[in-house]
Amino acid sequence: MPIQPIETVRWAGDAVRILDQRRLPGGEIYLECRKVQDLAEAIRTLAVRGAPAIGIAAAYGAALAALESRTGPGYEARIEASLDLLESTRPTAVNLFKAVSTQREILAGVAAAGGDAGSVFDALLAGADRMLEQDLEASRAMGRHGASLIRPGSRLLTHCNAGGLATGGLGTALAVFYEAWDRGLLSMAFADETRPLLQGSRLTSWELSRAGIPVTVLPDSAAAGLLASGAIDAVFTGADRIAANGDTANKLGTYPLALAAREAGVPFYVVAPLTTFDPETPDGDSIRIEQRDGGEVTHLAGVRTAPEGIDVYNPAFDVTPVRLISAFVCELGVLRDGPGYAMRMLTGER
Ligand code: MRU
Repeated sequence: MPIQPIETVRWAGDAVRILDQRRLPGGEIYLECRKVQDLAEAIRTLAVRGAPAIGIAAAYGAALAALESRTGPGYEARIEASLDLLESTRPTAVNLFKAVSTQREILAGVAAAGGDAGSVFDALLAGADRMLEQDLEASRAMGRHGASLIRPGSRLLTHCNAGGLATGGLGTALAVFYEAWDRGLLSMAFADETRPLLQGSRLTSWELSRAGIPVTVLPDSAAAGLLASGAIDAVFTGADRIAANGDTANKLGTYPLALAAREAGVPFYVVAPLTTFDPETPDGDSIRIEQRDGGEVTHLAGVRTAPEGIDVYNPAFDVTPVRLISAFVCELGVLRDGPGYAMRMLTGER
């Protein structure tokens, strides 16, 4: 039976309702953000995370901003300030910036037509609903295209969480796993633990188990050996930003995984919707990589594991050069010659 979407981000009357991913797999607790400030904090602290999901959350944040700003003069400027705040939360995933930019255009269009605060809210909410619906559609298409790459009995490895929790509810890399499972092609999913915030062991294993898919979690450092042993048939990951030349930012640890896959002769696929392709960023060196708090590395579950005062290097993402990527899978299909076709569709060039 096809997988039911996870309700990762939804609109709930006067709030943005998100499944709090900081609490998984311990409990399915929903947060209702009634202030843009609270939603920004939820994005910053990874209560909602994953490139498409933070874009959708920020789009609903625009509707929230319209509700918060509806009385008094200057409501348009106050909504813009809220959008600035949402954009300041996380720098790497391009989906966030595209979603906010779309909402800015909608706001400007309604305001230019003389719309009142009520019609601004209606238009921004409709814009966010559309993004959610398009993301679910894209996931279904990516699942179908990606499954065409998989042979019966396959053992597939993934990194971080590129599932329903990271999107409107179905996923990118995991949409492929779901479709492969439905078609009887998948024998075992392997999930990298994904240090330091454990998106693989906490979220991907929760999500796949919930769908009845057998999953094995491994420490990130075990992946190279597992690939070399011949136990993995293909690697599928998501992406946070795909530069015009195909260099791809994704969760820290993706680059070494791609190197290990190349060394082992295992295909390495990046699955991402068009909202993650960024024609305006020329290459991987131009992608801004988020640096996170050192406490994520010096502490485990609140307990210090490194000496006081130690220096920490904690980038949230790394960049995989396009030469290590066997193909991109997006809603348009499987792109074996780099991301050019997707970029041309986005820019309107032929
Ligand atoms: O820091 P996170 O958990 O937001 O990082 C998420 C990832 O790197 C995902 O792999 C990426 O956003 C793709 S999600 C479909």
